[in-house]
Amino acid sequence: MSTIELDYGTGRDAATALPLPQAPGYPLLGILPKLKGDQLRYFVDLVGELGDMIELPLGPRKVLMLNHPQAVEQVLQRNAKNYHKSRYYGPLKPILGEGIFLAEDDRWLHQRRSAVPGFQGCQLKRMTEVMSQATEEMLDDWQALCAGGQRLELVPAMMGVTLDIVLRTLLSYRIKSGSRDVMSALTVILREAERRVWALLPTPLGLPTPRNRALRRSLALLDDLVDSVVGARQASGERGEDLLQLLIDAQPEMRAAGMPESLLRDQVLSTILAGHETTANALSWTFILLSKHPDVRRRVEAELAEVLGGRQPSFEDLHALTYSKQVFFEAMRLYPPVWTLSREAMADDEILGRPVPRGSTVMLCSYAVHRRPEYWPNPEGFDPDRFAPEATERRPRHAYFPFGGGPRKCLGERFATMEALIILAGVMQRFRLDLAPGQEVRPEPMITLRPSGAVGMTLSEV
Ligand code: HEM
Repeated sequence: MSTIELDYGTGRDAATALPLPQAPGYPLLGILPKLKGDQLRYFVDLVGELGDMIELPLGPRKVLMLNHPQAVEQVLQRNAKNYHKSRYYGPLKPILGEGIFLAEDDRWLHQRRSAVPGFQGCQLKRMTEVMSQATEEMLDDWQALCAGGQRLELVPAMMGVTLDIVLRTLLSYRIKSGSRDVMSALTVILREAERRVWALLPTPLGLPTPRNRALRRSLALLDDLVDSVVGARQASGERGEDLLQLLIDAQPEMRAAGMPESLLRDQVLSTILAGHETTANALSWTFILLSKHPDVRRRVEAELAEVLGGRQPSFEDLHALTYSKQVFFEAMRLYPPVWTLSREAMADDEILGRPVPRGSTVMLCSYAVHRRPEYWPNPEGFDPDRFAPEATERRPRHAYFPFGGGPRKCLGERFATMEALIILAGVMQRFRLDLAPGQEVRPEPMITLRPSGAVGMTLSEV
């Protein structure tokens, strides 16, 4: 199969006269069996071999995989209106319902407009202190682990602190106990959703299979959490200064726009899920990579010492943590928490000079685009200097899209970056985290990209 070189400037080339490269697959099943193995490696190799635009036979359906920054820009930004979330987000519907993540057109716009003020600078500044407090509370618990010579389980620790932060900052709620149950429920849900994305014939949710039962139990547990969050606000009889209040205040407008009673539940749940799992994964990968790259770790330590000298960062300090931020961005290049996006074309379009007929499903795989050697020399190498300003300017903007792009770009981008820096600074000024010897950490592609299995870290005080 020949690779098609496209002209980045115009997006057109004589090569578009050639047939679109198709990923080789099996009769009827297409590439589905290949996704049972190392799915991520498979996509990276495929892009290396077939280039910018590839037809993927996924069972009876065909998906267009777009791997060129200009194509990413066309779908997410330039012609974003033409692209709705695809059927592959369907498995998330029972979880996120009518919330912002899956809504389209006016139903999306109303929600986006009402939530934006909750993430503005003055609100974020107010949240810095809570983020620091939550981090310190976690680190106090680590003290006991460290003294007892016990290992830290990295992923649940990051999930715990980011869940605590999203609840305290955006919803003014403190989980008393059971955050482990919430995290386990979330794992069941995401794993099952991922399975359903690629399944040829997903089991109907109504069937009482063990998996479906586990899924329903997990959903019920999250519903209970949402009820407690909303119930606590109602019982207090007070107004909050947070996202929850904005969501509650906007309900009459949402009702008038024809949205259901259950919308608030969907919005709160979407906030909890979107707001902690992704950041926890990004942070877990950051600590894993730092442990493997002592030279990078030393540079972060030096920056923290120079800017903070042992104290927690204020909102203003965060701007000065430039190298630490580059480290976080580089970790998300290698392990983008939302590793693939997909859309469906509402009308005919043209991408890179090729027709994209109405109804086409397109897939944007950040995991693979973030590893294209054309934009990322030595793509598997961990090199935060790639995100130095001069290097960033030299790259096409949409060669990097861990937060998506265009009008539907992640609403929590600044929140997440700020939170990550606060946690990173807090942790690294008190502890050194090293991957326990002999551990091979691999990514597990669920809806999000987690390190698979338990990741044990040894802790030592600095
Ligand atoms: C490192 C952490 C995070 C990453 C990598 C991330 C990534 C993303 C991506 C890729 C999208 C776009 C999905 C698509 O286009 O299909 C998205 C959307 C969204 N994210 Fe995040 N996210 C992160 C943290 C957060 C946080 C902390 C919040 C806060 C609650 C948040 C709230 C949202 C919301 C509300 C949307 C939907 C936006 C819309 O459709 O208008 N995210 N995120």
